[in-house]
Amino acid sequence: MPDQTQSAPLLSVSGLTVSFKTERGTASAINGVDFDLKRGEVLCLLGESGSGKSVTLRALMRLLPERRSRIAGKVLLNGEDVYAVPERRMEKLRGKAISMVFQEPMLALDPVYTIGHQIAETIVRHEGIAFADAERRALDLLERVQIPSAKRRLKAYPHEMSGGMRQRAMIALALSCNPALLLADEPTTALDATVQMQILLLLRQLQAELDMAVILVTHDIGVAAETADRVAVMYAGRFVELGTARQVLKDPQHPYTAGLLASTVHGNMRGHALEAIPGAPPDLTNLPSGCAYAPRCPHADAHCTAAPPSETWLEPGRMARCVRARVPAAAPV
Ligand SMILES: Nc1ncnc2c1ncn2[C@@H]1O[C@H](COP(=O)(O)OP(=O)(O)OP(=O)(O)O)[C@@H](O)[C@H]1O
Ligand SMILES: [Mg+2]
Repeated sequence: MPDQTQSAPLLSVSGLTVSFKTERGTASAINGVDFDLKRGEVLCLLGESGSGKSVTLRALMRLLPERRSRIAGKVLLNGEDVYAVPERRMEKLRGKAISMVFQEPMLALDPVYTIGHQIAETIVRHEGIAFADAERRALDLLERVQIPSAKRRLKAYPHEMSGGMRQRAMIALALSCNPALLLADEPTTALDATVQMQILLLLRQLQAELDMAVILVTHDIGVAAETADRVAVMYAGRFVELGTARQVLKDPQHPYTAGLLASTVHGNMRGHALEAIPGAPPDLTNLPSGCAYAPRCPHADAHCTAAPPSETWLEPGRMARCVRARVPAAAPV
């Protein structure tokens, strides 16, 4: 097989849509997400609660409830079509090629096995090495995520650990087979501010060491500014803005991004959570026919409610989904 690793993106997502059957009707959670991710790249997802960040990550892992969800579009991971491979192949890819730190640690950890067993077992399953060797690697991982008395913690069950320790254990588990792509869904929310920063620095360090690509969901703009190569802003299941961290956070082109950033103090944004902007997020079972943000947007006019805005590419890699976004006029020659 030709070596595609250098040229092709590690991850390529096109036309991803996800809807759920709910008691109130069909909820359109993801409404057309497209992006590529290179090996070793860090992309941060920002957006209010319910904008579709976790659903996007779960869709990439093919972990959405099959019977209650409807998924369309294409997810290529290292050239493999995630929604075309058999589940057995997907089980191999999960953990090794792509792995996830979940928003809820208790959902990811098995209550009946010790932390050490779970990590070692994952390593054995993917790499076929002896259990004792895998246990040694598990110990090394717990030490790397700075779990105190790591040797003793190997023998602990998830319920015997504090929320912060569980979150670290889950990060160790997710990193156990050196995944090419790590999906980290608010991996530090249960931790206090100092530990949060330690864990994020650790993730950044491991990311560089292992040349691991990361998609990091965070509510903290400072975290995004310090860790991301690129930032995507989500609203009603779409990317409404995409660019480098500097472009998006210093020069937002979508009024929603500007609204999210308005409450933060520039220059010292660490620890500033996204504050609610006036108005409520849209009802996903009844999305407006135009721009989903128009009902809350201070600049909305008749153009905005007529049809959903398409992507405006301001320059390569820099996108805003807003009728007001203008491609800069070419400089006179
Ligand atoms: N299994 C499901 N069944 C029905 N609706 C779902 C399901 N999972 C998610 N949703 C809905 O999809 C929408 C997007 O949810 P998602 O969890 O991706 O939001 P989020 O951006 O991660 O928010 P938060 O910041 O609160 O974690 C929400 O309206 C949510 O209620
Ligand atoms: Mg979420």
